Amino acid sequence: MFRERTRILVTGGAGFLGSFLCERLLAQGCHVICADNYFTGSRDNIAHLLDNPYFEVIRHDVTIPLYVEVDRIFNLACPASPIHYQFDPVQTTKTSVHGAINMLGLAKRTKARILQASTSEVYGDPAVHPQREEYWGNVNPIGPRACYDEGKRCAETLFFDYHRQHGVAIKVIRIFNTYGPRMHPRDGRVVSNFIIQALAGEPITLYGSGEQTRSFCYVDDLIDGMIASWIPARSMSAP
Ligand SMILES: NC(=O)c1ccc[n+]([C@@H]2O[C@H](COP(=O)([O-])OP(=O)(O)OC[C@H]3O[C@@H](n4cnc5c(N)ncnc54)[C@H](O)[C@@H]3O)[C@@H](O)[C@H]2O)c1
Repeated sequence: MFRERTRILVTGGAGFLGSFLCERLLAQGCHVICADNYFTGSRDNIAHLLDNPYFEVIRHDVTIPLYVEVDRIFNLACPASPIHYQFDPVQTTKTSVHGAINMLGLAKRTKARILQASTSEVYGDPAVHPQREEYWGNVNPIGPRACYDEGKRCAETLFFDYHRQHGVAIKVIRIFNTYGPRMHPRDGRVVSNFIIQALAGEPITLYGSGEQTRSFCYVDDLIDGMIASWIPARSMSAP
């Protein structure tokens, strides 16, 4: 049986990055299913997409299995900023680990290709700058950030083991600090802090010596990279 459009599941699709990804995939002619529990995402982020007949939204927590028929999965569900992922650290680990198991199980059953939104935080407090993929990181497994860092590391492990053990077609991307419209204004991260302080006419806070470095990426560029890394233009139509 052939489907007219590639059917793509985006978990965390109502979040900052997920909403841009849904938008771009719809513009490229895909049928998009967005699954989100709205912990940090919102319907406002995807309100402009709701009239599109090829856009479906499911309120769903990825720690619970999901049964849908799809060709591709983008697994983005996870709170991304410390204030959000430390709010309920056990749930954060479950989201990364149980979420990965559930989405990889779905990919295995449906033979869908699956992409994991991992993070530069898998390098922890890195001893090497800049970080290359061969660097394995320097992570505190018991600190307050571990629920996110170790959760994402375990998710990467699961992705590679599902690939080696079950032949699931995977892609893991490690996203660095991304900014743009729809980011949470009060997520405590550096770009949002700078913007909020600048708009309020307040002094901009620099921590430490101010000599630390970060890699910043604009959201459009990230989505370009995400799609380019995963779906060559020629395979966007029928699976
Ligand atoms: N924005 C960045 O700079 C950045 C950097 C590195 C990695 N990432 C990763 O990219 C992904 C998206 O990040 P974002 O910045 O869009 O964050 P976000 O918080 O805006 O989006 C995450 C989305 O996942 C949803 N979600 C959280 N837990 C869920 C669960 N258990 N079940 C279903 N949905 C759930 C939230 O409601 C939200 O819509 C995350 O996995 C994050 O770790 C982002």
